[in-house]
Amino acid sequence: MAVGVFDSGLGGLTVHQAIAARLPDLPLVYLGDNAHAPYGVRTADDIFDLTCRGVERLWAEGCDLVILACNTASAAALKRMQETWLADDKRVLGVFVPMIEALTERRWGDNSPPRQVAVNNVALFATPATVASRAFQRELAFRAVGVDVEAQPCGGVVDAIEMGDEMLAEALVTSHVEALLRRMPHPEAAILGCTHYPLMERAFQRALGPQVKVYSQAGLVAESLADYLTRRPQFLGSGAGGRYLTTGDPARVSGKATQFLRRPIPFEAA
Ligand code: DGL
Repeated sequence: MAVGVFDSGLGGLTVHQAIAARLPDLPLVYLGDNAHAPYGVRTADDIFDLTCRGVERLWAEGCDLVILACNTASAAALKRMQETWLADDKRVLGVFVPMIEALTERRWGDNSPPRQVAVNNVALFATPATVASRAFQRELAFRAVGVDVEAQPCGGVVDAIEMGDEMLAEALVTSHVEALLRRMPHPEAAILGCTHYPLMERAFQRALGPQVKVYSQAGLVAESLADYLTRRPQFLGSGAGGRYLTTGDPARVSGKATQFLRRPIPFEAA
């Protein structure tokens, strides 16, 4: 049995880490499409094609269930994959919905009409493609009323992380937070809507101030996967053993992953 975890690059490692902590006996095959990162500045068609290719690579590893640990792919490609591309014996799950369920205090499968929730002003930080898709607002509107969402496309942050330039990433985070706070001075909650951003979570929290609750997805996605697998154990694929695969240069990607996660992460060529 094995489950696949896909991202454009290093960001999905934040989700991988949380799943490994929650389900320690579950082998995970990670695929980072580092050769084509960042996805956040690409067209929806391009993101769809690259994501399908990545998911197929994980099927070849015996992973019938793949987590898109990438908001950009979840926002720009997942719906189209599920509607037009996915075979019946395979599943691809995104990272958006668990986060929105947490924010709107819902359990999985609660399809009751949208209702008032505790937060009214939400700051969303995400890639330009995710912000442009408005997928977050669409999913939120199914579940909650009266929530004002201010979205900030955080250009450059993923590139800086993929380059291993923490100082540049931090400076960009600070300026994106300042830009958002000029439009929404008092958000109650902030969503890190890109799986790369938890790697800079302290910088986000510092710039936002301690009164803002920062939601990051990793733990929520891990919890929702654990729940999914108890309901659908047939999607535990035939793969055996975990691996880290990259379409980029394995030595370089291993170095950056180790820098951000602060433990050795050995990547192999995909
Ligand atoms: N980490 C991804 C996300 O959650 C992708 C970022 C990118 O490649 O631009 O959106």
